[in-house]
Amino acid sequence: ALVEKGEYRHFMEKEIHEQPDSVQHTLSEYLDLVSGKAKVQAVDFAAIERIQIIACGTAFYAGQIGKYAFERYAGLPCDVEIASEFRYRHPAVTKGTLAVAVSQSGETADTLAGLTWCKAQGLKTAAVVNVHSSSMAREAEVLWPTHAGPEIGVASTKAFTAQVAALLSLAVAAGVARGRIDAAQETELVKALFEAPRLISEALQMDAGIHALTLDLAKARDVLFLGRGSMFPLAMEGALKLKEISYIHAEGYAAGELKHGPIALIDEATPTVALAPLDDIFEKTASNLQEVAARGGPVIMIAPEKAPDPHGAGIRRVSAPDCPALIAPLVYAVPVQLLAYYTAVQKGTDVDQPRNLAKSVTVE
Ligand code: G6P
Repeated sequence: ALVEKGEYRHFMEKEIHEQPDSVQHTLSEYLDLVSGKAKVQAVDFAAIERIQIIACGTAFYAGQIGKYAFERYAGLPCDVEIASEFRYRHPAVTKGTLAVAVSQSGETADTLAGLTWCKAQGLKTAAVVNVHSSSMAREAEVLWPTHAGPEIGVASTKAFTAQVAALLSLAVAAGVARGRIDAAQETELVKALFEAPRLISEALQMDAGIHALTLDLAKARDVLFLGRGSMFPLAMEGALKLKEISYIHAEGYAAGELKHGPIALIDEATPTVALAPLDDIFEKTASNLQEVAARGGPVIMIAPEKAPDPHGAGIRRVSAPDCPALIAPLVYAVPVQLLAYYTAVQKGTDVDQPRNLAKSVTVE
């Protein structure tokens, strides 16, 4: 069926706004809202020793968010690697490893080759894919679908949050299967995940505030994104999104690495975007922002209203919904995407078809 933009100016804008639905639909694949339980999976998480995620581009960042969740909630060691490296570097994989390809299209050449290689090594394989009839869906033993629907914009948005929703849900399922999460915690985590669609809708209300910030951001030559915990991969995804559609150079860094290099770049012309949910490491991120502000760098701090003020000249705040730590990457993905989107609109680039990029890289 032909997909149309309807009331939206670009497919990307439409797809950003579809996320409450696409996330809800994807969560329902893995979790049961009524019982508050994670559905039992075809993979026996108690029997595996390690997860190896392979992916490219935005899916790689979704994979890194997945890693943090598999380790934190399931005590399951998880490695994530860019497929083009993994497939050629002769990695040492062990028998108890589950290989998981993460891909919107299910056709990315490097990811597919990595998956095929793992299968040939005798590993168990699974694929988190949005196109359910794709090559990866057929190649993997276990299909873990995302339900984002067709994504037209070259820069991935709703497919990313659907991948994150699937991986977070699977991490909870793995935690239950491995005895790391008891029944009460399971109910609480499942409930938290099902709050994501509503909180994503709330985050979409940040629209006007983010739009106002991009008037300045569009003039920047370089932008730094900072975050800790699962906000670190999201910072890298934010930088990628901005690069892809606005052609502004951007880098995503773990906030704790600021001192080890990127702080040398800070000046009044280099904005820093901080993803700062009110979690157990908020204060650490806030002190990094003071360091940036003290060096004259403009800061955009995305944090809930009730988060304390880091007190620094030049720190502008945008309020994000307060949310449980588990779902912060789903909720904070929205301001990150809107920031890239409005900056690109400001610059007048071809948002849905950025120069030199392809929706799916099926040849090396
Ligand atoms: C291309 C697209 C990206 C996407 C990446 C991986 O670079 O432009 O948006 O993240 O490929 O694609 P996949 O279909 O494997 O998720």
